[in-house]
Amino acid sequence: MDILVVGTGYVGTTTALIFAEQGHRVTGLDVDTNKIENLQAGKLHFYETGLEELLNKHLQQKNIVFTTNVEKGIQNNEIIYICVGTPQKEDGSANLIYVEQVAKSIGKLMNGYKTVVTKSTVPVGTAEKVTEWIKESQITPYEYDVVSNPEFLREGSALYDALHPDRIVVGALTKRAFQKMREVFGAVSFPYLETTPRASELIKYAANSFLALKISYINELARLCDRLNINVRDVAKGMGLDKRIGTSFLEAGIGYGGSCFPKDVNALLDAANQYGVTLSILKSAINVNKTQPFYVLEKMKQVLGSLKGKTIAILGLSFKANTDDIREASSLIVIDYLLKEGVNIKIHDPVVTLSSSCFKQYETVEETVTNADAVLICTDWSQYKDFAWETIKDKIANPIIFDGRNCLNAEKIKHSGFIYRGVAYP
Ligand code: UDX
Repeated sequence: MDILVVGTGYVGTTTALIFAEQGHRVTGLDVDTNKIENLQAGKLHFYETGLEELLNKHLQQKNIVFTTNVEKGIQNNEIIYICVGTPQKEDGSANLIYVEQVAKSIGKLMNGYKTVVTKSTVPVGTAEKVTEWIKESQITPYEYDVVSNPEFLREGSALYDALHPDRIVVGALTKRAFQKMREVFGAVSFPYLETTPRASELIKYAANSFLALKISYINELARLCDRLNINVRDVAKGMGLDKRIGTSFLEAGIGYGGSCFPKDVNALLDAANQYGVTLSILKSAINVNKTQPFYVLEKMKQVLGSLKGKTIAILGLSFKANTDDIREASSLIVIDYLLKEGVNIKIHDPVVTLSSSCFKQYETVEETVTNADAVLICTDWSQYKDFAWETIKDKIANPIIFDGRNCLNAEKIKHSGFIYRGVAYP
């Protein structure tokens, strides 16, 4: 099929490449000339394992093209995926201005029947709005369907997740739309749920919020485990082996970040408020997450005393490993706090570079931790897990490691002569 993907950000580019991989002819459209030129040249503007190879493969095979030509993009493709950003407004709600612009362009420029699919995370009721926006901007009243098909992939494992989804959710209102979507996906070996656009839109927010809830629950339990000297990983494992609970998203740490969980939980709360419903459990989850970095910092103070004038090595900036995304990353909260406390900060990240006159970033872990009063791990990069910590113990002023991701081998680290403090990971 001929598929247009509007928006070549993280989700849009991955979606476009997966469709190309599945044998469709794909056009990636964006208003950002720079992004399009880079993609045409086979260069990704973000870091994601395996995607650049896939991009070059499909550019060579001519299954995918990238363009800034909105008119041609819309007119040459029957299936149009909207993958533009839905940034968070100050009140926590999702800003739909880019979705609206795309919908109105489709209405104005369409030259025949179109299936318009929203993949961006959008509030419940957006499919209806998109339907209206297209209708009011139409010059000729061609038929169209609006579909919701949310994306569940994770940064850092986007390719794997997109190729092996736990499920596909398709929300539509007509038989024709469901049929078109079945043609897009072909025969699939994973669960395929057909529902209404409203339910589909809510599923995305509800799933992300539930995962955030799981993390905040284990993080709060970790505080209790710390008091009781219990290893929270054992507790998580013991709980998770119950299939009704599941082991994933029960890793305690310094808190969740990224472009999805913080934004989506807020957006769901905001939407519920609008309908007079209070999702109090989500409010608590947000609160636990906001305080979790300070919980770890408080531990640091208990061991080091006043932090003023101390040197702290921060390992990891990205909100999780295998991505260069620092949106809502716990590291940023930590850095901000430590700077205000008068701490001398040294930083390392394998892929993210932050330039600031307030701290220095180093190329190697070794340089970063040399002469530090303590090390704080904010991201579970394999570079830190696999690091030969025993070789640098003598270079650290105080061999103390605060592991905000419980990602090091605590026993081995302690055996090497370090003081090790995880999050309820004794
Ligand atoms: C998330 C959802 O998982 C994905 O389905 C959705 O499409 C987009 O949002 P992503 O934001 O890429 O994906 O990252 P994810 O792997 O979910 O991690 C989010 C944050 O939670 C990270 O900061 C991570 O470190 C943290 N986390 C995750 C924990 O603290 N503990 C866990 O057990 C799992």
